[in-house]
Amino acid sequence: MGRKRHEPPRNFFARKSIAAMQRDTETHGLKQSLSATNLILLGIGCILGAGIYVMTGNAAANFAGPAVVLSFILAGLACGLTALCYAELASAMPVTGSAYTYCYAAIGEIAAWIIGWMLLLEYGLAAAALSVGFSGYFTSLMADFHIHIPAAISTPAIDAVLMPGGTQFIAGQGINLVAALAIAVVTVLLTIGVNESARANNVMVIIKIAVLVAFVAVGVFSVDPANWTPFVPENQGNFTYGWAGIARAASILFFAYIGFETVSTAAAEARNPQRDMPIGILGSLLVCTVVYIAVALVLTGVVSYRTLGVADPIAVAVNAMNMPGFAVVIKIGALMGLSSVLLVNAFGQSRVSFAMGRDGLLPGMFCRVHPKFQTPHLATILLGVISAVIAALLPITIVADLVSIGAGFAFSAVAFCLMWLRSTRPDLERPFRVPFGGFWIGKAWIGYVPVAAILLCVAMVLPVFIDITQHALRGDVIPAVIIVVYGLAGAVIYFTYSSRRAAIVQESAL
Ligand code: ALA
Repeated sequence: MGRKRHEPPRNFFARKSIAAMQRDTETHGLKQSLSATNLILLGIGCILGAGIYVMTGNAAANFAGPAVVLSFILAGLACGLTALCYAELASAMPVTGSAYTYCYAAIGEIAAWIIGWMLLLEYGLAAAALSVGFSGYFTSLMADFHIHIPAAISTPAIDAVLMPGGTQFIAGQGINLVAALAIAVVTVLLTIGVNESARANNVMVIIKIAVLVAFVAVGVFSVDPANWTPFVPENQGNFTYGWAGIARAASILFFAYIGFETVSTAAAEARNPQRDMPIGILGSLLVCTVVYIAVALVLTGVVSYRTLGVADPIAVAVNAMNMPGFAVVIKIGALMGLSSVLLVNAFGQSRVSFAMGRDGLLPGMFCRVHPKFQTPHLATILLGVISAVIAALLPITIVADLVSIGAGFAFSAVAFCLMWLRSTRPDLERPFRVPFGGFWIGKAWIGYVPVAAILLCVAMVLPVFIDITQHALRGDVIPAVIIVVYGLAGAVIYFTYSSRRAAIVQESAL
């Protein structure tokens, strides 16, 4: 029998020093070339996608009615407060990373693991949701050219339908191969190292915004105010309309804002990170919030909200304006928007898993870099396959709910880390600080903005949890099973593998 391998002691609260994080970043040799405008455009590039092009329709038709505008404001507020927290952390720790890195520095390994695990869920499922949105608009665009893509290859194996008493999951008509194919293409591009350059991103963003601004500018003349009455349709139970419906729709539209935090991952590539990180994060969120509210108002004003529960709601409104040429432009704009966010999401996921692999929390294959393409190819391919399978099987409603849960966790953790770091490292230089201050309870600093951010993020996630539980009690167990299995798998992997390997990796780095 061989000798037992030396195992260093595990430390679930081992922290990564800020200096070590900066070293990790510096050794990457990234170029510091991004200006504040580039950062705002980068943010918009990551934010504006399936949320506005696809989810708005479901949120209005099934949950909020025309009051979906209020849901947008509510979700925007939750993200705005979180964005302030991200801005402070990104200006204090201008390193490559995200919530995962901040948690590692502020709280320690186990918190970093939980957040990393949730971020993998969020990014992976967001990629799946985006590809399902892509499939909806692609099928619709092809139909305009009389090419009919059969439901057998463009709809999921499990479908969601609106029944009296709420959404129900039923066996679908096929397998969404179009969505899976979209992910496969993005995976290949990322594997061979085709990354959106800042310039390509800027062009995409301008097209995405121009298409939506054109929709608002043209659509405003077709608005029939009667469609806005009643603005808050009467509550029918199960989150269908009323104020409960507005809250439920906000938790769906939370998805629409995800991406602003991606700006923080570019901190190491910013020209003047201390000043420009807050501008990039908050600026991109603000532009998107304004665009979302305008689009939602016009959308629900042009057609009845009841007709919007489809894969391509904006196209439905444009069709009602009797402008077939414009409908084609809108769909092409939507496809460009969806593909660019899809690319960024898949990229983000592979980079979070890369960082976790480097820190020893995931197997070494996640940070193995291809000798020629210089990309984490194995991680990109593995995660791409998982996202593609999910996209092929599940409807966008289930997937987007799970993304909101992942994001709610990650965002609350960031606000928590901010308070933790203010309490434990009050000396750290913070060029940007969240406004309105806070107070001390003993050695703990409690900030108004981070606490409000946590409360609103919990308020975003709570309706999803309640809805998923209600579904499970009615026999629709799929979303509940996914959450429980994913959570348990995370715990098992961490305690049996990751904490042990992280200790070995950290010891060998000393
Ligand atoms: N916010 C991104 C979108 O709406 C994820 O597509």
